[in-house]
Amino acid sequence: MTFWDNLPKPFFVLAPMEDVTDIVFRHVVARAARPDVFMTEFTNTASYCSEKGNFSTRGRLEHDASEQPIVAQIWGTNPDNFATMAAGLASQDFAGIDINMGCPAKDVVKIGAGSGLIRQPDTAIKIIQATKQAGLPVSVKTRLGFSRVNEYLTWLPTLLQQDVANLTIHLRTRREMSKVNAHYELIPEILALRDRISPQTKITINGDVQDYTQAMKLFNEHPGIDGFMIGRGIFRNPYCFDHCNKTPSQSELLELFRYHLDQYDKYRQIMPNERPELVRNFDSLKHFFKIYIKDFPGAADLRTELYSCTTTNQIRDALNNWFTK
Ligand SMILES: Cc1cc2nc3c(=O)[nH]c(=O)nc-3n(C[C@H](O)[C@H](O)[C@H](O)COP(=O)(O)O)c2cc1C
Repeated sequence: MTFWDNLPKPFFVLAPMEDVTDIVFRHVVARAARPDVFMTEFTNTASYCSEKGNFSTRGRLEHDASEQPIVAQIWGTNPDNFATMAAGLASQDFAGIDINMGCPAKDVVKIGAGSGLIRQPDTAIKIIQATKQAGLPVSVKTRLGFSRVNEYLTWLPTLLQQDVANLTIHLRTRREMSKVNAHYELIPEILALRDRISPQTKITINGDVQDYTQAMKLFNEHPGIDGFMIGRGIFRNPYCFDHCNKTPSQSELLELFRYHLDQYDKYRQIMPNERPELVRNFDSLKHFFKIYIKDFPGAADLRTELYSCTTTNQIRDALNNWFTK
């Protein structure tokens, strides 16, 4: 039994998203409507295992007790690095480890990592086995195949035979990137594969799921699904995990934006002196403006004003000026 077995059915996971789902934004999502499981952004095993990289990857792995169960997502190609990193993560209070076998980025695929592992099943197996040595529950996040959809017929059984605790499937191939609709029509066959090969493995569906309500419709059609992972839906509605389909008011979004700024200061600005690994480019904060500043007259103008800010206090002043006009 692992924590995956003690989750509600269906459970909800905030998708790992690089430069998005760091500790700051995870706290924001938790305040809005909390998912059942959090994951870190993907973190490179080779960097972690090199002394310099270990420093730079620490910021990605930053988490706290309020986020449990939180899973560290890791990627790479060398099974020894996975074993070393898994042992390190086991002492850092993570609930589990997720292996990225789905990233489509060229630089990642070029070295055979991420979705590149779909074409190297032997290495993928060695990586899973190496990661398991640390004793934490191991899950995998992947795609249907590399070039062709029907690769899932051999690729998913390969993973299921490794007895992973959870298998998250982004229902597209690497070639499809995010350009076509997710292949929901394959859900029944995927569940049948799981039931036949590894009934204890949880199946988490990912791809185009916008919110709790849409997920529950899918769940009613396919009650064998264990969980749903939502990524970009969080940009559309930061309350997307809310069970009552909450559409936040403008003042609630503004309050959440201010909370986001406070969390940013807490983790990215106040500690840098002691915790330089947590420092990030200020521009990364700008990805989020569209979540909060939208759907009212002048929203685009206000966003333009915010894009020129270089500190969180400037952002706060701009918001105060705008909303007291
Ligand atoms: C900005 C961004 C960063 C991402 N970073 C990661 C990552 O670090 N690890 C990962 O497994 N997937 C990553 N993904 C993919 C998402 O986790 C998810 O699989 C994908 O967005 C499809 O789900 P969605 O339709 O709910 O967004 C990223 C996606 C986006 C948009």
